[in-house]
Amino acid sequence: MRIRKAVFPAAGFGTRFLPATKAIPKEMLPLVDKPLIQYAVEEAKASGLEEIIIVTGMGKTAIEDHFDTSFELEILLKERKKGDILKKIEEVSELVHFAYTRQKKPLGLGHAIGITRNLINSEPFAVFLGDDIIDSRVPVMKQMIGVYNKYKASVLAVQRVPRSQTHMYGMISGKKVAPGVYRVTGLVEKPKSNPPSNLAIIGRYILAPEIFQALDATRPGKGGEIQLTDALQILLKTREIYACEFEGERYDAGDKVGFLKANIAFALKHAETRVEIRKFLKGLKL
Ligand code: UTP
Repeated sequence: MRIRKAVFPAAGFGTRFLPATKAIPKEMLPLVDKPLIQYAVEEAKASGLEEIIIVTGMGKTAIEDHFDTSFELEILLKERKKGDILKKIEEVSELVHFAYTRQKKPLGLGHAIGITRNLINSEPFAVFLGDDIIDSRVPVMKQMIGVYNKYKASVLAVQRVPRSQTHMYGMISGKKVAPGVYRVTGLVEKPKSNPPSNLAIIGRYILAPEIFQALDATRPGKGGEIQLTDALQILLKTREIYACEFEGERYDAGDKVGFLKANIAFALKHAETRVEIRKFLKGLKL
């Protein structure tokens, strides 16, 4: 079955960015001139996905407004003959088809995915955590769909991380079956010690629809939240899961340092900012 739908869980409180995220969703923080979430939406579109389901919560209406048409703004830009900006604005609302659902309480990433069940039905689907920004030649989800097409099973994006960071991620153990592809043999969420490998799960997934039954059976774990990794552990008992070590540079823009690094890296590539930013960075007396 073709992967057509993508879930974007975006109902978290973004506490690492407070006070910036008190009134603005983390997903709307700008990376040069586009909000974070738009990069992942563009990746989804470039990977051939057709429908995006965004899981929102309290205080997240700016996300819906961003991907909607803005009649007044478009009229204003037309009157002022700002055709180039107008085109960019129109393109955003025409990206793909959007649907929204609300998670009433932030009960965890697993819970956020679980509430999309009726919108997904029984087909495999993609999940994007929008604060993982990945700069790659081939969109990461497209790389993962390639693995899905071969093995017809759930696929997790993984990246090697230093030992000092393994306690921050869901970690997998796996058996290499092709270059950069592993058959997952075990998973553990944020291990305090003895990580099963240095392969960390990052914010892109292709999930078989059986994940919903696994989520039903998942009890609150770390932090009292329904953890996706725990549900994947249950799924692994009856279904194969694969991991794809993707090609690309990833920034954890949900964290202050990662967000600032991403802004510098993208500013050095952006046509309107690269020359000045390079000059500025070179002139810094560090
Ligand atoms: P994070 O762990 O990054 O949490 O969630 P957060 O709230 O966004 O940020 P911090 O850690 O407090 O700074 C991972 C992803 O899961 C979503 C978040 O929106 C983010 O995309 N999520 C998390 C939900 O949609 N619902 C939840 O209950 C928890």
